[in-house]
Amino acid sequence: MKKIAILISGSGSNLEAIAKACFEQRIDGQIKCVISNVPSAFGIQRAKSFGLNAVIVDHSLFKTRDEFDNEIDHVLSKYKIDIVVLAGFMRILGKKITKKYYGKMINLHPSLLPLYPGLDTHAKVLQNRDKNHGISIHYVSSELDAGPIIAQGCISVNKNDTKNDLEKRIHSIEHKLFPKIINDICNEKIYLEDNVVKFSMDKSMQKIYEYYEE
Ligand code: GRF
Repeated sequence: MKKIAILISGSGSNLEAIAKACFEQRIDGQIKCVISNVPSAFGIQRAKSFGLNAVIVDHSLFKTRDEFDNEIDHVLSKYKIDIVVLAGFMRILGKKITKKYYGKMINLHPSLLPLYPGLDTHAKVLQNRDKNHGISIHYVSSELDAGPIIAQGCISVNKNDTKNDLEKRIHSIEHKLFPKIINDICNEKIYLEDNVVKFSMDKSMQKIYEYYEE
């Protein structure tokens, strides 16, 4: 069974959705540790409530990004992690660690990449009066929010939507799609080969995953 690490910085609602899916055996993998770079992150409480190992690697205690990344790597190695899941992890990881885990590290980003990499995606969508918004799940590369895309989920933006409305609907699509993708990665139905995302599954499923609508 694949060993999973989940990296968080905040509320951890995605961590909870993934943990629930593991316990209900909808994910064929085991969460070996949850790492937070923020000591006060609510996600740590959620991790503990599931009986998971919660490790704090407080970025503010490290002089350089490299030292922080090395400590993260140290924890991942200690738990012999196969798959690293960034679920609301708000630190940029450097070249060395992203290279080491290339093809084994995935990120969840709240926009339809390549639109809006970086922060404040909901505000940008509202500002630009976009009709659609969504999420992207992608392999992590050394460039921010730019690695090969595995799956995207789409929601429509209504006229009077606020940031809060978008956040709620984005979360609901994340909580459904992310665990499914993680399971398929655990079962090697989704993998990275020569920088290309490969799906060894029924073509119809593949289509749904590439672009999933609420
Ligand atoms: C998610 O919307 C994710 O896309 C973004 O940060 C949010 C984290 O939410 N990167 P949570 O901590 O999982 O509740």
